[in-house]
Amino acid sequence: MSRILSAVAWPYANGPRHIGHVAGFGVPSDVFSRYMRMRGHDVLMVSGTDEHGTPILVAAEAEGISPKELADRNNRIIVEDLVGLGLSYDLFTRTTTVNHERVVQSMFETVRDNGYMIVQTTSGAVSPTSGRTLPDRYIEGECPLCGFGDARGDQCDHCGNQLDPTDLINPRSKIDGEIPVFQETEHYFLDLPALADELSRWLDEREASGLWRPNVIRFSQHLLEDIRPRAMTRDIDWGIPVPGWEDQPNKRLYVWFDAVVGYLSASIEWARRIGEPERWRDWWNDPEALSYYFMGKDNIVFHSQIWPAELLGNNGAGDKGGEPGELKQLNLPTQVVASEFLTMEGKQFSSSRGVVIYVRDVLSRYQPDALRYFISIAGPETQDSDFTWAEFVRRTNSELVAGWGNLVNRTCAMIAKNFAEIPAPGELEEIDEKLREQVLAGFDKVGSLIENHHQRAALAEIMRLVGEANAYVSATEPFKLKDPSQRERLATVLHTLIQTVSDLNTMMCVFLPHSSNALDAVIGGAGDIAPLPVIEEVEDLDGGDPYPIITGDYTNLRPWASVEVVVGTPIAKPKPVFTKLDPEVVEEELARLRGEAGE
Ligand code: MF3
Ligand code: ZN
Repeated sequence: MSRILSAVAWPYANGPRHIGHVAGFGVPSDVFSRYMRMRGHDVLMVSGTDEHGTPILVAAEAEGISPKELADRNNRIIVEDLVGLGLSYDLFTRTTTVNHERVVQSMFETVRDNGYMIVQTTSGAVSPTSGRTLPDRYIEGECPLCGFGDARGDQCDHCGNQLDPTDLINPRSKIDGEIPVFQETEHYFLDLPALADELSRWLDEREASGLWRPNVIRFSQHLLEDIRPRAMTRDIDWGIPVPGWEDQPNKRLYVWFDAVVGYLSASIEWARRIGEPERWRDWWNDPEALSYYFMGKDNIVFHSQIWPAELLGNNGAGDKGGEPGELKQLNLPTQVVASEFLTMEGKQFSSSRGVVIYVRDVLSRYQPDALRYFISIAGPETQDSDFTWAEFVRRTNSELVAGWGNLVNRTCAMIAKNFAEIPAPGELEEIDEKLREQVLAGFDKVGSLIENHHQRAALAEIMRLVGEANAYVSATEPFKLKDPSQRERLATVLHTLIQTVSDLNTMMCVFLPHSSNALDAVIGGAGDIAPLPVIEEVEDLDGGDPYPIITGDYTNLRPWASVEVVVGTPIAKPKPVFTKLDPEVVEEELARLRGEAGE
């Protein structure tokens, strides 16, 4: 048994999330966590909404409300969406809690005390007309590294490098095109060069593990080639106050400094909420514990450089030495599991251009497991992939409904009609044994694929076994075994089939928790093989307004193994679990998209 931290990227609360987001961090982290729990590991899955930083501030200003109001509203929407998808967080919280602020400040102070936060004067962009500071990401210009014309002041989306606004060639304000002026301003910088040797050692060791996706490790190592101190404070009045600079409320911690600490602060909040305030240390201070970080590729730098650097600074592990503070020695990531991008009908998602499908809209019209299925079988695991409505309808109808759903239905319909309960098998024939062997081997095969983050291949293997089972029906033709002399053979075939369905459903439940529960009820079970998350309204440390968290009890689990079906269990005529989609859905959705895009 291992302790496993599932650290899931924190969605920005500047708006509702689209299906590209949940394809990147959401469904893959849930599949992995569910599987690891079924294997008996002690999984802690945490995340929350990322509520500081410029995007929230700008969105709030545009609506004429406070950033907190905007964050409150979107936090609730995002919580509902993620629960609707069945994502099994132990705790999904938010970055505007008192707990988070305390943990972030404590970490900042330790890193600073250890010498890895240095004050430097830098030149910040200011609007010449309003005199207000312009946040980095609201400055655009040409990337000095790759020449991309629309690089932002914090990052170039074309080559992925981090930038400072002063690096940009021909900078301009994204808000009104104005040319910014640069003024001197003081900030705390994370001394990455003093941590670079240690970072490099850690990455080399991670590379040697052979576990990371090659592009993720290569990209991370490449980042070390041009390493310099990075500003961890900003000229902004929305964010966590900088310890020691309380008299300068217009300077706050950089949103990325605070967001990544969320994995730790959420673990601490979780431990407090279950009434065992020190429990989080089992995942963070014990070097045997494993941690997996799930995100889209645009987040890699923050998880393979900034966050490990913060952790090393806290641990006093860089060139300047130092001592860990009250948080003690903290674990660095075992693995950064970054996915690529999901495009939609061939285009990059963009809320501003109306190229967007919100999770909420999909959930209001389709089964959550239909979306989970699409993401798991065709998501952007190791290369960009495309979501199209035609493909969504095709996969739902021909794979979920006609493949998996049909196998369950015909099995249960034949049992209901002929026996009304699970029949006792006679002696197995070779064809029966062969199917059973394949399915049993599936547990190891599918399991190791999931463990190594090859979820597409894992689900494809389950679907291959579904195909084998359907082929078994065609080969054994139980519907023709009508003669009383064939009754024992019929019982054997149907028993073999329902055991197979039950086993495949066990494997499916990590991918399709809602329908696996429904199918479990169809085959005579209690319908609770895949625990689902719940929303609770809770109070912060200081009381304050209650806010929703996602949590759940994921302890009552079916093991990742074949569980024998019970002979004599009543089986009724089944109702289909998966909804077949009308092909007209495609045109409807495309029209909606065109409408939303304002074309
Ligand atoms: N909010 C960021 C994004 O959506 C992700 C933050 S992950 C975190 O890209 F852990 F750093 F919070
Ligand atoms: Zn570039």
